[in-house]
Amino acid sequence: MNRILYASDCLDVLHDREALPDESVDLIYLDPPFNSNSQYNLPFKGKYKSARAVEAFSDTWTWTDKDTELLHELESDPRTRSLANIVRFAQSTEQTGGGTSLASYLLNMGIRLGAMRRVLKRNGSIYLHCDPTASHYLKLVMDDRFGRKNFRNEIVWRIGWVSGFKTQKKGWIRNHDTILYYAKEGIPYFDKEYIPYPNGYKRRDGSLPKGKGIPIEDTWNCSRADILDSIMIKSFSTEKMGYPTQKTQALLERIIKASCPPDGVVLDPFCGCGTTVHAAESLDRRWVGIDISSFATGLVRDRLVRAFDQVTKENVQMRGNIPKDPPSARALAQRDKFEFEKWVCGHIGAEGMFHNPGTPGADGGVDGVMKFFPVRPDKKWRAEYAIVQVKGGHVTPDAVRALRETVDRFDVTAGVMVCFDQYMSTVDNQRSRETFSDALGTYPVIQGYSVENLLADAPLNLPLYGFKRQGALLTA
Ligand SMILES: C[S@@+](CC[C@H](N)C(=O)[O-])C[C@H]1O[C@@H](n2cnc3c(N)ncnc32)[C@H](O)[C@@H]1O
Repeated sequence: MNRILYASDCLDVLHDREALPDESVDLIYLDPPFNSNSQYNLPFKGKYKSARAVEAFSDTWTWTDKDTELLHELESDPRTRSLANIVRFAQSTEQTGGGTSLASYLLNMGIRLGAMRRVLKRNGSIYLHCDPTASHYLKLVMDDRFGRKNFRNEIVWRIGWVSGFKTQKKGWIRNHDTILYYAKEGIPYFDKEYIPYPNGYKRRDGSLPKGKGIPIEDTWNCSRADILDSIMIKSFSTEKMGYPTQKTQALLERIIKASCPPDGVVLDPFCGCGTTVHAAESLDRRWVGIDISSFATGLVRDRLVRAFDQVTKENVQMRGNIPKDPPSARALAQRDKFEFEKWVCGHIGAEGMFHNPGTPGADGGVDGVMKFFPVRPDKKWRAEYAIVQVKGGHVTPDAVRALRETVDRFDVTAGVMVCFDQYMSTVDNQRSRETFSDALGTYPVIQGYSVENLLADAPLNLPLYGFKRQGALLTA
C-alpha cells in the first residue's frame, strides 16, 4: 500500500478485504458530508465566473427503500442492533426538526464507520471531522461502533477569523468544527506535539520555560501561539484548489504526525481534493484515498504530481470506477454522460466545468478549462486558458466549428475537443488551422485529443500546463 486512489463509494472498498486487509491501516481521517442539506459546487475562478459551476458533491439525504432494507438487516443482527436503535431515535426526532434525512445520514455513516474499524490496526486511531449539524449524533454512532472506552478527545477546531455577513448574525457566531478522536482499542500510537514557546514566554513564577514547548490541547487554533486557520477563510492561499470544504494541510499534518508512525498507512475514505493524502505524502507516510467522484480523484492525482518530485502519474495507483481502457471509457460515456465529462476533466487536470445534471446546455459548450502558461521572452508568467469540450459519442463537423466560436465567445486562447479516436478525423478535418506561439513552440488553436491518448497519459499540445513545484514541466 503506497499511493492508492479509489474512485468509489468507500463502503465498497472497505468491504473488500483484498483492497484493505484486516488491521492494515494506522490512521483514518474522514471528513464526510455533514448532512448540511447542501449542494457543493466547484466555483470556477478567474474571468469565467459567470458560467455555471459544476456539482462537486451533494450533501442532501433522503430516506429510501434501500435504507429501510438496511435498517431491517441491522435490527436482525445482534452486533448492529444498537446502531439500528440510534437510527430509530433519529427517525423519532422528525417532529422536533431532525427527520428522516438525519436518520438516513446516520444509518449510512454508521455502516461505513463500522467497516472502518475492521481495517484499523489494533493501536490505530480514527479522527472524524464534523460540525454541529450532526456531531452530537455522530458521537453516539462512534461510541456504538468503536466503544465508549475508546473515545479519546473531542477536538474543537476554531475555523478562524470571521468577517462580512457572518458577523451580522444575531446570536453567537459559529466558528468551529468538531473532530472526534477514537482509538481502536487500548492505547493508540501517539507522538505528542508541542507548539514552540512564543517570544518572551515565561512560566507563571516568572522563570524561563525548560520544556519542549506548549503541549497541544484539544482546542486548536484558539490562541495566538497556535495558528491553524482554515484556508477557506483566506482570500488568497497557494493551497486553495477551489474544492468546496477543502481542509487545511497544517491541520492534517498535525493529526498525521501525532497518530501515524513514520512508516505507517493513512486512509481517508472521503478524500475530496486530497488534503489528507497530500499531507501524508509530505510527511513520508503511505496513503490510500477514496472518493466517490472520479473528478475528485483525478484532481488529487494532478495535485500530488504537481506538488512532489517523487510522485508521478505512474506511481499513483488509480482504482475503482475509473475507465482503464477504451471499452470501459465508452461504457461510462454511455451510462453517464456527466460522470464521463467529470472523469475526463479530472484526469487531464482541467480546472472547472459548468455542466450540472438537469441543466442541459447551461455550460454553453464548456465542459472544463485548462490553465496553461506560455513561455514569454520577458519571463513574466501569465495564465491563459483552453476550453475543453468532451464528447462521449459522435462528433459532428458543426460541433468542431462551434468549439472555435466558443473560444472566441469566452475570449480564450485555445480549444480542446476530447473524443474517441474514431472521430479524430472529423475534428482534424473541421478544425481551424490557426495557431498561436510562445518561446518554446507553435500550437493549434483548436486541437483534438483522443480518449485513447488520455488513457495513455499522452500530453496535450499546449504550452506549460501542470508544473512540478520546482518548475519542471510535466511530461505526462
Ligand atoms: C467534505 S468533502 C471532503 C473534503 C476533504 N477533506 C478535502 O480537504 O478536500 C466530502 C467528500 O466525500 C465524498 N463522498 C461523499 N460520499 C462518499 C462515499 N459514499 N464514498 C466516498 N466518498 C464520498 C464527496 O465526493 C466529497 O468529495
